[in-house]
Amino acid sequence: MSQRIKIKALLESEQTDIQVLVKGWVRTFRNNQFIALNDGSTNSNLQVVVDFENTDPALLKRITTGAAISASGTLVASLGKGQKVELKAKVIEVLGDCDPETYPIQPKKHSLEFLRENAHLRFRTNTFGAIFRVRNSLAFAIHQFFQERGFVYLHTPIITASDAEGAGETFHVTNFDLANPPKDDKGEIDFKEDFFGRPTNLTVSGQLEGELGAMALSDIYTFGPTFRAENSNTTRHLAEFWMIEPEMAFYDLNDNMDLAEALLKYVIKYALDKNAEDIEFLTQRLLEEEKQKPQNERSEMSLTEKLQFCLDNDFERLTYTEAIDILKESTPNKKKKFQYLVEGWGTDLQSEHERYLVEKHFKKPVILTDYPKQIKAFYMRQNETDANGNETVRAMDILFPGIGEIVGGSQREERLDKLEQRMDEMGIPKEELWWYLDTRRFGACPHAGFGLGFERLVLFVTGMGNIRDVIPFPRFPKNAEF
Ligand code: 4AD
Ligand code: MG
Repeated sequence: MSQRIKIKALLESEQTDIQVLVKGWVRTFRNNQFIALNDGSTNSNLQVVVDFENTDPALLKRITTGAAISASGTLVASLGKGQKVELKAKVIEVLGDCDPETYPIQPKKHSLEFLRENAHLRFRTNTFGAIFRVRNSLAFAIHQFFQERGFVYLHTPIITASDAEGAGETFHVTNFDLANPPKDDKGEIDFKEDFFGRPTNLTVSGQLEGELGAMALSDIYTFGPTFRAENSNTTRHLAEFWMIEPEMAFYDLNDNMDLAEALLKYVIKYALDKNAEDIEFLTQRLLEEEKQKPQNERSEMSLTEKLQFCLDNDFERLTYTEAIDILKESTPNKKKKFQYLVEGWGTDLQSEHERYLVEKHFKKPVILTDYPKQIKAFYMRQNETDANGNETVRAMDILFPGIGEIVGGSQREERLDKLEQRMDEMGIPKEELWWYLDTRRFGACPHAGFGLGFERLVLFVTGMGNIRDVIPFPRFPKNAEF
């Protein structure tokens, strides 16, 4: 009996009267007798019963909230309420003391703001234990989904020389001494002297490299960190976030939408099955939070119901143009329903508009397609100009309740002349993307892909309200402490 067993496995097995060894962290210690022990495998604590009369008082004193201990003894049926089994401890050892006076995580409810300031310790709370187990399952399910379908997991570079989205939101990478960079004859920074011999940046998207892979392997996906130096002082943006970017040869926009919808449903279902206990915990947490809100602001569905609803219903598919019409009709006489006016065809939707469509109008996930070309990236396939003279591209954004945009994607422009023309119009340097343009020269074919923001998915599945709470180490302006 020297093999440690995880608490989840122990609680799930129906066995009693067996000898077990457990290790974990003390959540609470009541009456010098009952330890609530947690090892992160589940939110359920194991009750460890201490034979306090035969235990050294000095040892008892060291059993404090946060301390790491090991306990061995007999697993017995529990007479107490709240648990089926408990451990009658024979031997307890304190592996790591924890000073209760200075330990920030107390056995009480802490605010999310407080836990964000103590992000190095917040893993030790039930809420964050549940969130990061769900995050883990979602990551696993994403790989499983693509692997089952024969996609190749392609590792695209973190350091690149391109700004795939052309939005100018890159973080520079250099090994220069910034206080004293080498200068050229004109007194300008001489990037030829830099590590890579040219300016480089952290990737904003692996899509362009992903397309190169798809042009030979047919179906690929990336799943890695991406970086954007944009204003991420919102509850939906991070400066470092993880993105899943599948890219498929011979797919059109409809195939792309079908795949994205299937992926989202698959991974949500996986988490609901695999993490039932954690999602139930998060559902209850959210219900408590909702009780603080006025009745009319409370959500009509619980978290579990919301997730199930998403599985049971087709996503609504409509064009950007149809969406603009709905938004305009919903504000008759220009009555001010939105903070930002729906300015009309050609402008990007604000998140309040997206959320109106999803949460109030359709009340389900929505896929918007065929956006004006001026508000989308250069690589999207151009549609024929429509009867009203509108120029659109084969874009698709998936909008989710409570989240807004969760997926952005498109069919790609595979026609070299159209692509080059668009790059010229948008001032995208063709010479720097010569390798990308080569795919359009050598065996180009229709293809499509999309990017799923992983943290936005985790937000949706956990019901949390702030993206900083669903990534272990959030990066946002003025925050990179740990
Ligand atoms: O819409 P985006 O910018 O699309 C692309 O990057 C494409 N290259 C994807 C592709 O077609 N392969 O980003 C895709 C998704 C968004 O829908 C959103 O979910 C997420 O990435 N995202 C962010 N998530 C957190 N913080 C940010 N700052 C994000 N920016 C985008
Ligand atoms: Mg987008």
